[in-house]
Amino acid sequence: MTLTAPGSLQADSAAGGPVPPSPARGLVCRNCGATFGLIAEHACAECFGPLEVDYDAELMAAVTREQIEAGPQNIWRYAALLPVGQDPADRVSLDPGMTPLVRADRLAAELGITGGLWVKDDSANPTHSFKDRVVSLAATAAKGLGYRKIAAASTGNLANSVAAHAARVGLPSYVFIPSDLEPGKVVQSAVYGQTLVAVDGSYDDVNRLTSELAETDEFEDTAFVNQNVRPYYAEGSKTMGYEIAEQLGWRIPAQVVIPMASGSLLTKVDKAWRELVKAGIVADTEWRVFGAQSAGCDPIATAFDNGWDVVKPVKPTGIAKSLNIGNPADGPYALDAIRRTGGSVGRVGDEQIVEGIRDLARTTGVFAETAGGVTVAVLRQLVEDGRLDPTQETVVLNTGEGLKTLDPLLPVVGFTHRVEPSLRSVRSAGLIS
Ligand SMILES: Cc1ncc(COP(=O)(O)O)c(C=O)c1O
Ligand SMILES: [Zn+2]
Repeated sequence: MTLTAPGSLQADSAAGGPVPPSPARGLVCRNCGATFGLIAEHACAECFGPLEVDYDAELMAAVTREQIEAGPQNIWRYAALLPVGQDPADRVSLDPGMTPLVRADRLAAELGITGGLWVKDDSANPTHSFKDRVVSLAATAAKGLGYRKIAAASTGNLANSVAAHAARVGLPSYVFIPSDLEPGKVVQSAVYGQTLVAVDGSYDDVNRLTSELAETDEFEDTAFVNQNVRPYYAEGSKTMGYEIAEQLGWRIPAQVVIPMASGSLLTKVDKAWRELVKAGIVADTEWRVFGAQSAGCDPIATAFDNGWDVVKPVKPTGIAKSLNIGNPADGPYALDAIRRTGGSVGRVGDEQIVEGIRDLARTTGVFAETAGGVTVAVLRQLVEDGRLDPTQETVVLNTGEGLKTLDPLLPVVGFTHRVEPSLRSVRSAGLIS
């Protein structure tokens, strides 16, 4: 199965208006450079290296700010920079994106950041995490490639998003998650009435199982969003980078702190900015990319600290379950981006993660899930040990919603007072004199 060739989607959309051509030329191996058509494969037939979308440089260079600004208030405003979904009629999407970029002056003051601090709040997406961006791309590619079902191995947020996308368009989905995920993540996957399989194992076990399932007759007609259509899926994360630049007034921030599980999001934010520079949409300024992991699952942090090019798998533990990928597929590429830009990687323990969630909520009004707690706690660590420059403009990514991971907060936050319904009781609680 292949998608339509580049430049050929030029007919007028059923929804009206001209449809920009797809800039996608094919897939290219990130390891050996071998090229392929727009096929449903994520590994190179020559060397098993990961495949990514290869773009037509001329079509990308022709994209303008004005063209983007005239688009819808969601990720599809960047359709001319994405591999699929140029024609609205082709999209399988909850239309995520254009989430708030929140100025975090009070957090900046607390941390001693004087160059400006922003939180990109992706909890505002339809299923409350950045995964709606990647699933919209994957599901649209799956439709274009002729698949009849979608599936995923997930640490939770991807499960939520795949099930919701499937429910919206009436496509069957099969989601596989570790059986010990947070109740919030389980309920938010189950409520859409799709197939949800709990696997008694880690995410890495689940991922191995779904790779085996993809080879069976029953799943032959199934797009596994982070496996056989992964090259298209991963491009969805670029939209977070495009939006940050656009929301800053077409400017790239000097520093960004990004949570890492597989490492894909980090590599794609960096890629988005390189594309915007190359297309002449933003000025060619320098930026540094910082990665955030939890101490319970820190394979990329360990590789960074030791100067390794390869990432040694770990067995994940700890409360940041959405980031608990012990064998990160994009780890080496995340390391490349971090080292090339002069960034670094931080790791924080469970107590710091909870503090990170509370610090962000207390100073910005944004309630993050554990992954956001990791990112904010790593930001604090990077400032304290001098790796992040407090005089430079910085963006931190909140990739998921706090209501999804209430469990670690329940023992530490709650009522500040409890009273009888009488002024006397309120007085004795010290709220009035
Ligand atoms: C909330 C949240 N943030 C960040 C990530 C990391 O994404 P990636 O696997 O692209 O590194 C995930 C992955 O599941 C996630 O759920
Ligand atoms: Zn290859």
